[in-house]
Amino acid sequence: PSPVRPAAVGSAGVGSTGPAVRPRRLRVNPVIRAMVAETSVAPRQLILPVFVAEGLTEPRPISSMPGVVQHTVESVRKVAVEVAEAGLAGIMLFGVPTDEHKDAVGSAALTEDGILNVALRTVRDEVGDATLVMSDVCLDEFTDHGHCGVLTPAGVVDNDATVEIYAAMAQAHAAAGAHVVAPSGMMDGQVGAIRAALDSAGAADVAVMAYGAKYASAFYGPFREAVGSSLVGDRRTYQQDPANAREALREVLLDVAQGADLVMVKPALAYLDILRTVRDSVDVPVAAYNVSGEYAMVEAAAAQGWINRDAAIVETLTSLRRAGADVVLTYWALEYAGRLHS
Ligand code: PBG
Repeated sequence: PSPVRPAAVGSAGVGSTGPAVRPRRLRVNPVIRAMVAETSVAPRQLILPVFVAEGLTEPRPISSMPGVVQHTVESVRKVAVEVAEAGLAGIMLFGVPTDEHKDAVGSAALTEDGILNVALRTVRDEVGDATLVMSDVCLDEFTDHGHCGVLTPAGVVDNDATVEIYAAMAQAHAAAGAHVVAPSGMMDGQVGAIRAALDSAGAADVAVMAYGAKYASAFYGPFREAVGSSLVGDRRTYQQDPANAREALREVLLDVAQGADLVMVKPALAYLDILRTVRDSVDVPVAAYNVSGEYAMVEAAAAQGWINRDAAIVETLTSLRRAGADVVLTYWALEYAGRLHS
């Protein structure tokens, strides 16, 4: 009997001069490709960010984010139902107050009739526990100067005074029904202060999803239109320098030490190295925020016919999962769950 040929010698038979190993065998048809796919994206891993604007009677399109709108309180209620029915992880609410409700300290972030608190209450009443209701804990939408915190007389963002307001804001969100609060202001000590404030308010079950590594990024451009930001200048004294990777890990580890239940990396696509490092360095779930500018780039190229839109969306979300994201925040969440998820 002839000896069994070792696999590494090749399967093409005696006399083959081809490669001994042929990875293409595992790509010959869609069934085998699906069998060996290492990464998948499920609706349960996606969060839909939504904007809710005060004083609107109709949803208002955001020109730099085609397909995304500023919602009314009524229309966000319907979107929340769709989010639950689609099996998404949750809905992340951003409030857009009218100009008359912005001031130097972001007062409308704390009041019960502030737009974000109204939206949270409305959505939670509607969906109960069928999907997670999440809130952005930050002052930029509520301040007339557009910064994420309150300013000192010299015009610098005052870290500790801002953190106190965030703690009260998180309590207001919990009282309005948030399951998860997401502090995005990048103030030092914000996670610990929010955790303590929630616990002291009887909201120990409310989770903190910390924007651990958040960069001062040009990819937030369309978001500024989406929330009607009044910012002049930039956020480089609090958000991170895109040049830094070690600093991201330091920030994330501080958030975990202060009690963050999940940590987020933001933006996503230009920061896949950070996402991978964070995933390998912490034992809490990691989220990635596929931000407004990343959305706008694909939509703009697709509108020109320069890119296959659906394929680009699926590839984007898959890549974020492959790089280590357990959870992805994306403006395509509903569309993916409904039409692109196979
Ligand atoms: C701050 C916040 C921002 C985003 C989410 N939370 C803007 C900023 O930090 O300047 C950006 C999200 C996006 O671009 O999609 N409240």
